[in-house]
Amino acid sequence: MEKVTVKDREFTPFIREDEILRQVCRVAGEINRDYDGKDPIFLCILNGSFMFAADLLRNITIPCNVSFVKLASYEGTDTTGKVKEVMGLNESIEGRHVIIVEDIVDTGFTMRDILNSLSSKGAASVAVCTMLCKPEKLQVDINLKYLAMNIPNGFIVGYGLDYDGYGRNLRDIYRIVK
Ligand code: IMP
Ligand code: MG
Repeated sequence: MEKVTVKDREFTPFIREDEILRQVCRVAGEINRDYDGKDPIFLCILNGSFMFAADLLRNITIPCNVSFVKLASYEGTDTTGKVKEVMGLNESIEGRHVIIVEDIVDTGFTMRDILNSLSSKGAASVAVCTMLCKPEKLQVDINLKYLAMNIPNGFIVGYGLDYDGYGRNLRDIYRIVK
């Protein structure tokens, strides 16, 4: 694996595709075991989770629904600042077991907003499945029930993650060169 340039920055190889897939398969196995007979619905958060979601779901062997949602950001009118709402959720999740599929949890604020946004919709349960987490940056107390890998601080691209809209198509994950 070689260094790559994405837009105007240099990135160095960090996590290889085969290692990512190994962890994704492990997580899929945990979900298959925990949700057997529960008919879960996966809510994949666009854009970043598309590649993770595709690989995860190809390894899910139990009956399930798959849906894709986007987040809309608003500048709040009060001091809480940015408020994010889940957009494009057409089907009802009332009484359903929901598994949120996300690319990365950094500070955790995005995931907290997603969980808040879903909290009034009557799901039977809501669990988080994230490919990556940067534990040193996490500022919110959330339960990441399914996690492929913890990673140290540092900006990464590839496997769905972008730098200014570029690099999502890279098969491996790369880390920015300071
Ligand atoms: P949080 O709200 O700070 O947890 O940020 C989560 C969101 O920021 C993710 O859904 C990503 O879209 C983005 N993000 C966080 N870290 C990175 C990174 O290293 N590379 C690319 N996107 C990132
Ligand atoms: Mg994201």
